[in-house]
Amino acid sequence: MKTQKAVMKFLLLALSLFPSFVSAQDTPLLSGGPVQHNLMPVPTAVRFLEGRVVIDKTFGVATKGHTDARLQAAIERFLTRLKGRTNVTITPGLKTDAAAATVVVQCSGPGSGIPALGEDESYELKISGTQVQLVAPTVVGALRGLETLLQLLISDRDGYYFPAVEIKDQPRFRWRGLLIDIARHYQPPEVLKRNLDGMAALKLNVLHWHLTEDQGFRVESKKFPRLHQMGSDGLFYTQEQIKEIIEYARQRGIRVVPEFDIPGHATSWLVGHPELGSAPGPYTIERGAGIFEPALDPTREDVYKFLETFLTEMAALFPDAYMHIGGDENEGKQWDRNPKIQSFMKEKGIKDNHALQAYFNQRLLKILEKNDKKMIGWDEILQPGLPTSTVIHSWRGTQALADAARKGYDGILSNGYYIDLSFPAAQHYAMDPIPPDSALTENERKHILGGEATMWAEWVSPETIDSRIWPRTAAIAERLWSPPIVTDVDDMYRRLAVVSVQLEELGLTHQRNVDVLLRRMAGSNEIGPLKVLLSIVEPVKEYRRGQQRPATMLSPLTGLVDAAIPDSAAARQFAKMVDGLISDAPRFQTSAVELRKMLTEWRDAEPALIALSERSPSLAEAKALAKDLGNLGEVGLESLSYLTAGVSPPNEWHAAKISVLEEASKPKSSALEFAVLTSMRKLIVAAVEVKQATKMSPIEWRKMVLERAASPSK
Ligand code: ACM
Repeated sequence: MKTQKAVMKFLLLALSLFPSFVSAQDTPLLSGGPVQHNLMPVPTAVRFLEGRVVIDKTFGVATKGHTDARLQAAIERFLTRLKGRTNVTITPGLKTDAAAATVVVQCSGPGSGIPALGEDESYELKISGTQVQLVAPTVVGALRGLETLLQLLISDRDGYYFPAVEIKDQPRFRWRGLLIDIARHYQPPEVLKRNLDGMAALKLNVLHWHLTEDQGFRVESKKFPRLHQMGSDGLFYTQEQIKEIIEYARQRGIRVVPEFDIPGHATSWLVGHPELGSAPGPYTIERGAGIFEPALDPTREDVYKFLETFLTEMAALFPDAYMHIGGDENEGKQWDRNPKIQSFMKEKGIKDNHALQAYFNQRLLKILEKNDKKMIGWDEILQPGLPTSTVIHSWRGTQALADAARKGYDGILSNGYYIDLSFPAAQHYAMDPIPPDSALTENERKHILGGEATMWAEWVSPETIDSRIWPRTAAIAERLWSPPIVTDVDDMYRRLAVVSVQLEELGLTHQRNVDVLLRRMAGSNEIGPLKVLLSIVEPVKEYRRGQQRPATMLSPLTGLVDAAIPDSAAARQFAKMVDGLISDAPRFQTSAVELRKMLTEWRDAEPALIALSERSPSLAEAKALAKDLGNLGEVGLESLSYLTAGVSPPNEWHAAKISVLEEASKPKSSALEFAVLTSMRKLIVAAVEVKQATKMSPIEWRKMVLERAASPSK
């Protein structure tokens, strides 16, 4: 039991460390430590204790038990990052005397030489007295623990330290991946490497490398060089580069699963090898976005001979036990029009294109089995007769995944984790591969291996890909690692902001490239007004960008929409402040000052943005947005004035202000949308109803305002 004095001491510590604690006084205290931590993903069990281990120039790490080059390299990276985050000079290398070391890493053994599905990634961290003890059964477990230790680092005016704590941790799911599509837009090796570092920091363990698409064939084939030579615009990975990336991933305990998407999504294969296609060709590299007709011919033996040679070559290059064969979105239009394919189907009693694709997959499966590879493919490959050794990768949803699990297939979820669709982190966070209401039995649940975030690359360049992946993917990483009860969205966002800054130390450009792109568009350092605008707009969701802003894979990705990021923190803050203000009826003082400041910035940015938009064609699209931004600021300021004065606006005011919102919500060629319109509507309705606030209970008034704001007809 803690004494009252110790509780007070802790409380003061917490107040000094975490100013936001002031507003969370009803949070139950954990026994003896900070009520808040910045750990992401949240570990399985955390118990804070009294005390701290201080970081000073005597800091050092020693290993006990098993050690090897991979562990030692990870410790060196840890030391470099620790030095970068503190003002402490830290000597590289390992200490030989474990008793004198600050951190002792004790591994029981190497684990698998090549990261493997189901490898033990658990670890225990104990920080007490003057020492940190990290104990793990495998090197990968130790790597996970080192990342947690870095996330524990905090500081106060006395210095940097690790708080005393006991952590026991292990992943909930075995397969925690990130798909990177480098086919639609090529990404050089350094982009993959820095993202592998980001993955390791968030304990993700699978890079799903989407290597071939209609728009590009990006792996060197020594057997069939026309594939990459003619299908890639010269933008492909050599086999040496592939090996280097796989080794980089292995060092970080990350598997690399290659995907060769067939029989559809295969135009780029056919540029150099039209003879594999289901129509004569010739073919050229696809420049558009969408679903295209070219598909491999599944009826010809020479196609299987080709695939056997190619996939055998790739099986030797990629050491992982799994190979992804895609299989999605083949509409079979070329098959329908090819008389030879039609007569083959008739002859073999193959009743439709689904059955024909199932036949194709059975042939592929034999090739993979010969190479000791397990097959994984998208939902569509689940057809009668598919052996249950195949893994189903679901882009369709948890129901499809559960149905597959009931039939005995292992599966991973990507539906809900499509980070290319520009949804907020909270939405991905809410998606669980095994939802709380799942009817699966314990045994069926074992088939749900985990999930993967998908970075489809229609609209990303090396400059922008990081900001599409991070920090939102960290929320998905937490869903896949942490216990399912970890669901507090506000706390997730609080930690996500901390993690986002830490990810920058790995060279990730998700934060800084916003300014880089804006400076280039402006041709100047004067980007303040653009930053005000970008703080509350987001790229349009789902696949609307391609509709509102027609482009091809060759178009530049240097517009406002490319600088904009998908989950506006300012809009979230604005929503919170509006809710605070409305909850403070009938005084309307809470957040009023901060709201006025924010709204004034929006209003005042307009003229500067208009001037900028006339200076450079790439900023012309800022003009329409600037007008909306200024109007929104104005509307907000007026609403605020009525509320704080307790005065009702004139009758025609409501309709006029709602029409400002409607104007601001119209689709624009910039493919950007304002993320504050829902909150603005609340503010307008609150102003209209201000007189009622003195006649009703604050709770009833608030409820009435929110209901009216939610239903546009009222
Ligand atoms: C997919 O989104 N077609 C895998």
